[in-house]
Amino acid sequence: MIMKFIIILIVFLSYASCSPAEKGGSSSGSGSEDAGDVIDLPSPDTDGGITINEALSGRRSVRSYSESDITMEELSQLLWSAQGITSPHGFRTAPSAGALYPVEIYVAREEGVFHYIPQSHSIEKVMRGDVRGGLYRSALYQSSVRDAPLSLIIVGDVKRTRVKYGERAERYVLIEGGCVAQNIALQAENLGLGTVVIGAFNDGEVRAVLNLPDDYLPVAIMPVGRK
Ligand SMILES: Cc1cc2nc3c(=O)[nH]c(=O)nc-3n(C[C@H](O)[C@H](O)[C@H](O)COP(=O)(O)O)c2cc1C
Repeated sequence: MIMKFIIILIVFLSYASCSPAEKGGSSSGSGSEDAGDVIDLPSPDTDGGITINEALSGRRSVRSYSESDITMEELSQLLWSAQGITSPHGFRTAPSAGALYPVEIYVAREEGVFHYIPQSHSIEKVMRGDVRGGLYRSALYQSSVRDAPLSLIIVGDVKRTRVKYGERAERYVLIEGGCVAQNIALQAENLGLGTVVIGAFNDGEVRAVLNLPDDYLPVAIMPVGRK
């Protein structure tokens, strides 16, 4: 009996000392995660919302936001619109040349930097700390980037597309990033949020702020906040 109790205690303690990612589960997104921790996002709403015509008519670039934060439900919906998987074959909400999917989405918010994982509809914390100030400086001091509760950064791994399309790869990655940006903008309109496509930034500085490899091409920064 005592032996059984000791074994249960050992199993419990070793499990409790694991990070959420090691447990194969997720953290709650409370902000106390470590780099490497994975947060499962709430399931996206895939059939509700305003009509596509209402979203197209209402979309406008919004550059100033109220103080309040973006919820995990809203972030989930934005990321699903950007790169969510919508087919058993792995196809996504946005088109991709040769279905190679070179676009990666990063989220910069007060708690750190997160990377979207479409396959599990989750975000992995890749960096601790608030990089929004650095992002604001890399975006030529545009206040929308400084003031938004979060920014989505659309980045392209050009070499993924180059394997098949050679010198047209950069063009394709930029087109794909544009498709993703419009998906995000229309979803923001659906959620009653404001965003803007920021294209004026220093590529090298964005890479440095997010600790990205040299061959990653930053396509756009999209600060998102409540109108
Ligand atoms: C490729 C691209 C780059 C842009 N870069 C910026 C930018 O750096 N800063 C900004 O405030 N707006 C930027 N915009 C937003 C445009 O200024 C905006 O779309 C335009 O004024 C039309 O207004 P609307 O989006 O409200 O229809 C950019 C838009 C695109 C498509």
